[in-house]
Amino acid sequence: MALQGRDSAQSAPATRSRRSLSVYFIAAIASLGGLLFGYDTGVISGALLFLKQTFALNSTQQEIATSAVLVGAIIGAISAGRINDAIGRKKTLLLLAVIFTLGAIVTAFSPNFIFFLVCRIVVGLGIGAAASVVPIYISEVAPARLRGSLVTFNQLAITVGIAVSYWVDLAFAHAGMSWPPMFAAAAIPSVLLFLGMLICPETPRWFASKGRWDEARQVIEHIKGTDPDREIADIRASLREERQQAGFKELFSPGVRAALIVGVGLAVFQQFVGINTVIYYAPTIFQQAGFASASAAIFATSVVGIVNVLATIVAIFLVDRVGRRVMLLSGSVIMFLALVAIGYIFATHPKHVGGLTLTSLIVYIAAFALSFGPVFWVMSAEIFPTRVRATGASFSSFSNWVANFLVSLTFLSLIGAIGEAFTFWLFAVMALLALLFCWRLVPETKGRSLEQIEHYWENGRHWDEAA
Ligand code: BGC
Repeated sequence: MALQGRDSAQSAPATRSRRSLSVYFIAAIASLGGLLFGYDTGVISGALLFLKQTFALNSTQQEIATSAVLVGAIIGAISAGRINDAIGRKKTLLLLAVIFTLGAIVTAFSPNFIFFLVCRIVVGLGIGAAASVVPIYISEVAPARLRGSLVTFNQLAITVGIAVSYWVDLAFAHAGMSWPPMFAAAAIPSVLLFLGMLICPETPRWFASKGRWDEARQVIEHIKGTDPDREIADIRASLREERQQAGFKELFSPGVRAALIVGVGLAVFQQFVGINTVIYYAPTIFQQAGFASASAAIFATSVVGIVNVLATIVAIFLVDRVGRRVMLLSGSVIMFLALVAIGYIFATHPKHVGGLTLTSLIVYIAAFALSFGPVFWVMSAEIFPTRVRATGASFSSFSNWVANFLVSLTFLSLIGAIGEAFTFWLFAVMALLALLFCWRLVPETKGRSLEQIEHYWENGRHWDEAA
């Protein structure tokens, strides 16, 4: 069975580093899907200011404009598993690139609000699908020792996409160019994703699942730098089970249920700690915390966006070194403390309220980016057995979007009902629950092969060290 580190034992160092490079290249290309996810969700924050003028939107319509993309993402996440398994990871990503490109251009020409909403839902389909397909694609081409770091590439791309969308919004706003070019700009990474995927391979696991063993072997030899015989044997063993049973119901079967609880739990807690209230509403929070001008609030938001990117870069180095659990546990504690502090600042309005809010939000976003941000996506791509990997990841991703939708849709109303302080304290309670959840239920998967992880669930949540 697969052993951790066998790549290093069996390849010459020079060959290994050359091959690893191509794995990085492939992961970087696929991560453009993540960049589009970040850009297309973040772009609305600045664009909204102009959209509301063009289409004379009231506040409910503005909320609908913001969440339309999430509706599409929910549908995209549900459908992704099936398409991904039927036509393969590569063709799915090519298809998504086409959706992103057309969506970006057509949105920019929206003649009315309804048309705009339809475009946002269509782009959302692409975002929801990309969010689950990209991590699967990367985890299936990456060797075990690099899998966590490479899947984290995707999260880095999401955060870069968000930060870029803030700056692009700002630039077009300054140039007096309103919302159309803000949406159209997403066509650039979309076209790059399409061209890049044309030269990237299909994954060996997908080829094998269709009985195309020669092609599976060729891809392994070409990119992974692992011993093709052992790799093929591993894939063969996990596929044998896949043939016996698969499908949605299988997610609830005894060997898989515990993985499902971890996947869905991480998905829901990732959103219930309140991350997207910061990502989508940061300027509003800063204004409520006393930032006098809109530009000061937007500038502070851009700082938060950059910290998000920088902390994610650190996470890439940590995820396969310190491991998923340490990151999740310490991240939850720090988010809890930061959220308590934010609530306290709103409750007491201390002297340097603006500076204190910015500092707490920076600590919060850094803790998220070092924990739930990347680790949820890494684990949702690796915890499910092969026979339900795509379905499981897609279901986790679906839960993530539903939780995102619920939090984004209720945040302003929550503030209206119970005030800022209690709203943030509610998120603090969620961070505490997230801590308990991770401590009790989430296993350490660092350095384990996908097959070892599969056995862990089958063995009643015990590692089989001989596997
Ligand atoms: C989450 C997104 C969030 C982003 C922030 C992602 O992992 O799924 O909802 O906007 O992190 O960086």
